[in-house]
Amino acid sequence: MKALILVGGFGTRLRPLTLSVPKPIVEFANKPSIIHQLEALKEVGVDEVVLAVNYQPELMSSCMNEWSKKLDMKITYSLETEPLGTAGPLALAAASLSTDRDGNPSSDPFFVLNSDVICPFPFQKFLEFHRNHGQEGTILVTEVAEPSKYGVVVADDNGKIQRFVEKPQVFVGNKINAGIYIFNPSILKRIKVEPTSIEKQIFPAMASEGQLFSMVLEGFWMDIGQPKDFILGTKLYLNHISEAKPELLQKGPGFIGPVLVDPSAKIGQNCTIGPHVTIGKGVVIGDGVRIKSSVLLDSSRVGDNSFVDAAIIGWQSHLGKWCRTQNTTVIGQNVKVKDEVLINGARILPHKDIDASIYEEGRIV
Ligand code: GDD
Ligand code: MG
Repeated sequence: MKALILVGGFGTRLRPLTLSVPKPIVEFANKPSIIHQLEALKEVGVDEVVLAVNYQPELMSSCMNEWSKKLDMKITYSLETEPLGTAGPLALAAASLSTDRDGNPSSDPFFVLNSDVICPFPFQKFLEFHRNHGQEGTILVTEVAEPSKYGVVVADDNGKIQRFVEKPQVFVGNKINAGIYIFNPSILKRIKVEPTSIEKQIFPAMASEGQLFSMVLEGFWMDIGQPKDFILGTKLYLNHISEAKPELLQKGPGFIGPVLVDPSAKIGQNCTIGPHVTIGKGVVIGDGVRIKSSVLLDSSRVGDNSFVDAAIIGWQSHLGKWCRTQNTTVIGQNVKVKDEVLINGARILPHKDIDASIYEEGRIV
């Protein structure tokens, strides 16, 4: 079976991290976020994945080559010369999506994923649901409190979608599009190789013909395309792991709640870490450090007695001693933060030296 992942877009909302690497390569829970998707696809029998990209595929390819071998999946790139939106990329990859691995025509359904969503990926159940209703497409939906920044789905008791409204201005409902779909290849007849929104142009048409169904997701879901949601998504994911695979989590004195630590990380004496922290490869943490609700990316360092709260610390960045972060702070790659500096909800661009505290929330430095 095949899948297409919508990777395009510049990931501007996740800057400064996406100034260094494409959004799907940013590690979520110590793995490139797209790998969580590939592993789940592999498990349901997908053996070929098309990555729909609209700029610089070479930035992803070395990382993806490594994972392609590890997972034994074929990974190809479909490169747009102009951004084709969320539907155009399906038309561009139509030759692949409508054939099997030997190039023979196939009516097998395929998966389509937004690259920035994370959930338990119940793909087997999703596929069975799709096969059972027999229509052209199925959307995975989830309930949120604030639906206006998503696509909203109104469906009957069987899941048959009556209306699909992207980013509604007025309240329509609170079941939203989770950005995970299964389609029969017949959908490709609806789409041209031109900028097209699947949410605004294709879904409403399919719904009006009774060709679009929805399945409600059980468990957590998050679009991790913005720093605050990335940190919140980490929390939900770690809570899920503490039920589903507790053996992956760090145990012992000084660890509170679910914390994921790469075995190569070094942690000093008398630290208190957690809940909801991920610590990547080669991270070094000094003595007496307090960390909660934060993501420490590979090879970052935190000096003695610092307090890291609600932060993403970029690759190779160093926080001095007695530093403090709070309020969704994002530090880009290779930043040096001097001793005793406080950073309150700022975004720090890669390769900066920060010598003085930043009190004003939302600053970009
Ligand atoms: N190849 C390609 N080309 N991919 C694109 C393009 C493009 O021109 N534009 C966007 N994408 C990719 C993004 O990288 C992302 O993976 C996905 O398409 C969705 O785009 P976002 O920009 O993240 O959209 P959104 O988060 O505002 O809304 C979408 O996701 C919500 C769930 O998170 C919609 O699908 C909503 O309906 C949905 O609720
Ligand atoms: Mg998104």
